[in-house]
Amino acid sequence: MSEEVDQGRRRLLVAATALTGAAGAVLAATPFLASWKPSARAKALGAPIEVDISKLEAGAMLNVEWRGKPVWVVRRTPEMLKQVEAATPLLLDPNSDGSVQPRYAKNADRSAKPEYLVVLGVCTHLGCAPMAKFQAADVTVSADWPGGFYCPCHGSKFDLAGRVFKGVPAPSNLTVPPYSYLNDGRILVGSDATQAA
Ligand code: FES
Repeated sequence: MSEEVDQGRRRLLVAATALTGAAGAVLAATPFLASWKPSARAKALGAPIEVDISKLEAGAMLNVEWRGKPVWVVRRTPEMLKQVEAATPLLLDPNSDGSVQPRYAKNADRSAKPEYLVVLGVCTHLGCAPMAKFQAADVTVSADWPGGFYCPCHGSKFDLAGRVFKGVPAPSNLTVPPYSYLNDGRILVGSDATQAA
């Protein structure tokens, strides 16, 4: 009889020990898993962000945030790329020699792929947010406007490649952040480790 009781007690103790062990494993795993997720602070400090561009329509713009700043992704139509070409003689720094961009964006359309423009939405004069004014001849800017971005703070103008026009207070083109394509529908803003030259 007492042997039966002892056996039962032993089984109970084994089960309780197994449960405690399992709970301990979960507790130990939780901080480990949490450490793999970038914290809000890490994101604010500049962890790269993935942007889904697969549903961005031609002629439209996405606005995302990276390092506390707006990043614009514009899917340019062939017509918009012609507007970029047409604006070139009117620009202060058409070849982006005095502007900030990665090497793969130091070209006429300032991008790794002509169809997509990726720029910081921050005016290079005093940091206001320019407005998207993509329509050519938009009279709210000027009758001869070739299309681009207009900063209402002090009147700076940028073309559809973020290049600054002559005769405005902004001294340089809009900044292009580092970025790379993860595939045709996703880009990584903040890292260009895998970007081709
Ligand atoms: S901040 Fe944009 S024109 Fe001054």
